[in-house]
Order: sequence, then C-alpha cells, then structure tokens
Amino acid sequence: MLRIKYKGLFISIEGTDGCGKSTQIPLIKEYMEGAGHNVVVMREPGGTAISEKIRSILLDTGNTAMSTKTEILLYAAARAQIMEEKIIPALKEGKTVICDRFVDSSYAYQGFGRDSDLEEIIRINKFATSGVMPNITFFMDISPKVALKRRMAAAATDRIENEGMDFQVHVHAGFHALAKRFPERIKVIDATQDVNSVFSKIKEYIILLGGQKS
Ligand code: TMP
Repeated sequence: MLRIKYKGLFISIEGTDGCGKSTQIPLIKEYMEGAGHNVVVMREPGGTAISEKIRSILLDTGNTAMSTKTEILLYAAARAQIMEEKIIPALKEGKTVICDRFVDSSYAYQGFGRDSDLEEIIRINKFATSGVMPNITFFMDISPKVALKRRMAAAATDRIENEGMDFQVHVHAGFHALAKRFPERIKVIDATQDVNSVFSKIKEYIILLGGQKS
C-alpha cells in the first residue's frame, strides 16, 4: 500500500545511465504545474550545498579506492541531507517533489551493481530518509547497450559510469527485480519509445495516482 504521510506528492524517476530521465522530468514538471501543483525538482545525489559536495566526492573519477561501504554511506548521507533540508519540508508544504533518482538507485547500483547486501542498504536508507518514500517511482527501462549509444553523445563520464557494461547490466537487472518486489510503487516504463509515447505512459500513471487536480 502507498503510504501518504504528507500533503505533497513525491515522485521519483530512476533508470540506468542514459535512460532518458532528464528529458522526461521537465515534461512531468510542466504537466503537474498545468494541473495546479506547486512543483520542485531535485536531483540525487545533490540538491543542497552539502549534498552537492558529497556528490563531487562520489563521482570523482580519481576516487578509484572508494570502498563499497563508503559509497553506500555517502549516497545515504547526501540523501539524509536533502530529505531534511528540502524534500520533507516541501512535502509538508504540499508541494509536489520530483526527484531525479532516490533510494532505488542505491538498491540497484550498490545492492545489485556492487553485489552488496540489499537488506542492509534498505535499512541504512530507511534511517537516512526517516522512512519517507515516493508515492510513485518510474523506472525508465532501456537496455544498457542502447543507453550506451545515447551516452556516447554526452561529454565526460563519471566514476560510476566508468564501471562499464557488465556493471550497468547488473544495475538494470536490479531495477527489474526491485519493480517486481515493490510493484505498487515502482512502474516500469518502456524508455525505448519516442519521447511523447514515454511521457503518455507516465501521465497515465500520474492520473491514476490522482495527481491530476481538477
Ligand atoms: P546521475 O548521473 O543520474 O546524476 O547520477 C549520478 C550517478 O550516481 C549515476 O551513475 C548513478 C549513481 N548513483 C548510485 O550509484 N547510487 C545512488 O544512490 C544514486 C542516487 C546514484
């Protein structure tokens, strides 16, 4: 069952690198605003001065020695900060929060990608988020190989993107496993389609959720 703790609606959008999240987020924002929502967009890791500093440590290609435990805890630390400073206050004010990545990225990248204890990561993140979870999560499903072609067009790659194709394949399978485990929250969106078709599917779920104010 979806736990609606605050007035605001909390939406997260997930997927492997190059899945097209950044194209969809402005469309969701515009749609929700048109439906009368006051919308804030956040990104993870980041979104606050402290979380952005943690982000640069996490993504620094020089930090090849970073242990998986450090990585898990740093992502959770960045998340704890944005939760307390931005997300929870916004939800309390009744705002709609669209978050570019959230806990499922830690579950998929660190849990499945790094083959680390998923239940432990879930526990750590429950502490970091005070148990506040998105009302709905869109998993932008695209094969990492297709996504790679999209990413080739992007400039530099970060420390996580440097992990290579095998890692991305595990992360992608991880997102699918998570969608099976949390089917009422995580919706799988076929991200191979054109921008408008992908957005129509997302819109359908938002309408079902009651995100379309009259
Ligand atoms: P971004 O490129 O979508 O901004 O995300 C930064 C990278 O961090 C991306 O490769 C996914 C990764 N990541 C994790 O490994 N775990 C997490 O919890 C989050 C939020 C991101």
